[in-house]
Amino acid sequence: MNRKIIVTGGCGYIGSHAVIQLIENQFEVVVLDNLSNSSEANLGRIKQITGKQPLFIKVDLSNSEATSKIFKRHNDALAVIHFAALKAVGESINIPLKYYHNNLNCLLNTLNSQTENGINKFIFSSSATVYGTPDELPITEKSITKQPSSPYGNTKKIGEEIIEDYCKTELNFSSISLRYFNPIGAHESGIIGELPKGIPNNLMPYITQTAAGILDKLKVFGGDYPTQDGTAIRDYVHVVDLAQAHIHALNRLLNQEQEASFETFNLGSNKGYSVLEMIQTFEAVSKVKLNYEITERRTGDITQLYASTKLAEEKLGWKAQRTIEEMILSSWKWEQNLLSKKNRK
Ligand code: NAD
Ligand code: WQD
Repeated sequence: MNRKIIVTGGCGYIGSHAVIQLIENQFEVVVLDNLSNSSEANLGRIKQITGKQPLFIKVDLSNSEATSKIFKRHNDALAVIHFAALKAVGESINIPLKYYHNNLNCLLNTLNSQTENGINKFIFSSSATVYGTPDELPITEKSITKQPSSPYGNTKKIGEEIIEDYCKTELNFSSISLRYFNPIGAHESGIIGELPKGIPNNLMPYITQTAAGILDKLKVFGGDYPTQDGTAIRDYVHVVDLAQAHIHALNRLLNQEQEASFETFNLGSNKGYSVLEMIQTFEAVSKVKLNYEITERRTGDITQLYASTKLAEEKLGWKAQRTIEEMILSSWKWEQNLLSKKNRK
């Protein structure tokens, strides 16, 4: 039976973990990626874990002709999972057109090429950033979406609007948009994980690289937030839990269980942790003392964010299983593995 799924951005952090889940669920995977923020080495890591290497095609999906050609060759695919995007918030503020160009063209070309070839199921990597500064906590899918604080975030909000419009007019086309909160962690094997290029923007890789001695000191952005310890609160979710949610969403699409042609789901853990709690938990599970200092707030950061994932539980049958300790320990195991093998690519 045909089980082919096209995964854009499948060499990246979340995409590679989703490819592992797809292979473990007997799907045949075709990875499309231009490697702008990832490495082909991840394909070998996927093989090490699953025993199978997915077919890989290097392509820039913002190029419509190149994209179209590939989809013609794989017109028997059942669905597309679309991870491909640039995601550096700060860079997107400095170079907004790069982000609008890349993220929106990748989306438009993928939608066009897949429907030209009769592939009418689509999963989109969205983000909690579409809620802007929330009026209520926990955030539900009914919470209003707002102008995100960066052009990157705006590509996710506009992306969802494009897909929703498309679902209204394109008969038989259906889509699920997954709004990730803060993905962290790595595959339990320590063989694959997040590999930021250059200095990390996100908290978790900053913590592990500081602990590993690659970076000198972690700056905690803001100690004067109105929270229990003055630092900002986020909803962290294990990347393996997140990857598994894609299988649930895919099955919902393939089994035609959707209640609307466009659906959105929050993917988080329903819990908020402050930056200091993250540091303390890291120190407790790793037994490594972290060099950090509390500094000014980072522009654009909000005080607290955490999800209600009731809808995902009810409709997708998915709930995050892994604890914050497991998330942090798996990140640390991956970082140590990178250090010992000198395979930082
Ligand atoms: P990542 O950078 O590790 O993966 C994205 C992949 O897309 C990379 O492999 C990159 O090379 C590829 N890519 C980018 N532009 C491309 C293009 N023009 N053509 C082909 N491939 C291209 O990022 P990630 O953390 O794995 O994120 C995956 C998705 O999830 C992205 O859409 C991101 O915006 C979204 N997301 C991520 C987070 C997070 O914190 N990591 C949170 C919410 C949403
Ligand atoms: C978490 C907390 C920081 C680094 C971003 C994007 C969002 C989504 C996920 C894609 C915050 C603090 C961080 C550091 C720190 N990505 N921090 N020192 O900002 O919640 O979300 O990634 O869609 O769109 O904005 O995640 O990991 O950067 O920060 O104190 O060196 O850690 O201030 O409170 P964020 P993050």
